[in-house]
Amino acid sequence: MAKQLIMAYMHISWLLLIQCLLLVTRIGAKVPAIIVFGDSSVDAGNNNQIPTIARSNFPPYGRDFAGGKPTGRFSNGRVPTDFISEAFGLKPFVPAYLDPTYNISDFATGVTFASAGTGYDTATSDVLSVIPLWKQVQYYKEYQSKLRLHLGGNKAKQTIHEALHMTSLGTNDFLENYYSYPGRSNQYSIELYQDFLIGIAGNFIKQLYGLGARKISLGGLPPMGCLPLERTTNMMGGNDCISSYNNVALEFNGKLKTLTTSLNKELTGIKLVFSNPYDIFMQIIRRPSSYGFEVAAVACCATGMFEMGYACNRNNPFTCTDASKYIFWDSFHPTEKANHIISDYVVKNVLAQFL
Ligand SMILES: *[C@@H]1O[C@H](CO)[C@@H](O)[C@H](O)[C@H]1NC(C)=O
Repeated sequence: MAKQLIMAYMHISWLLLIQCLLLVTRIGAKVPAIIVFGDSSVDAGNNNQIPTIARSNFPPYGRDFAGGKPTGRFSNGRVPTDFISEAFGLKPFVPAYLDPTYNISDFATGVTFASAGTGYDTATSDVLSVIPLWKQVQYYKEYQSKLRLHLGGNKAKQTIHEALHMTSLGTNDFLENYYSYPGRSNQYSIELYQDFLIGIAGNFIKQLYGLGARKISLGGLPPMGCLPLERTTNMMGGNDCISSYNNVALEFNGKLKTLTTSLNKELTGIKLVFSNPYDIFMQIIRRPSSYGFEVAAVACCATGMFEMGYACNRNNPFTCTDASKYIFWDSFHPTEKANHIISDYVVKNVLAQFL
């Protein structure tokens, strides 16, 4: 009898111990903040505050977001970094740095400097007069000063050191710039243009490192030849994905991976990971029904063939009623449901090491 009682106690204390350990890992969150740089894939409304036509702060954008609010996210709901923030036990969304409804108390656990339409190349951000990457870094420096005032020097430094920094951009450098305007394509072959962008990406990571960042996720390109807008132009190919664009994405992702390996060797104490959405994204496009989708080739908004931004508005009678059946929300951006699946995959397979 006594022995059984002791065994029961031991069992209970083991359970308590395990629960305490779980609690400690939750409270002493290893990632106190998510800090984001990039394009429309992770913009949460910065472009609302600058003069550009690359906007989405009107219905039906955001119709499945909390309160049905069109925030400036290019989706019907949340974008990947919102889901990632939630997965790390932080806020269920990452607010935009230029959004006046938030202040440094909010930004202390997450902030995005991303701007729809931007790229690694400043010539890309010039196309739609959006925030270039170098300017996002300037805003980040300003943010660090505010964080020091808010938390004190030591705590701010520690926060930056432990925060997960994420980047998501590059698609626009190819689709909005290289393949749409003669400038860069006259200067560079596609291979050399990729190397030019990789050079910018490398310097950017080194800048973040110099500013105290240690945990960094470098985002890869999606299968950009499968975006509905690109499919629409592929009339000769039966509106299938444009394989040459997908091949560029694969090649560029290979170079980003190589860059990740070399920077991890070069920069002491950095933990740089490559978050590659390509394979999971491609799987969803090739087998939509396995993921609960019905439509892969066209988007929910309007005709689904070419509309985004102002062309995707509440007056369009063709917009679908249930976005969860679609992989793409507008001709260039995934639905919330697709964003959720891709984010879960990246968290589980790459970012879990920071949890
Ligand atoms: C931020 O805004 C909230 C109200 O939304 C306010 O309570 C808080 O004091 C503000 N924090 C700072 C540091 O300004």
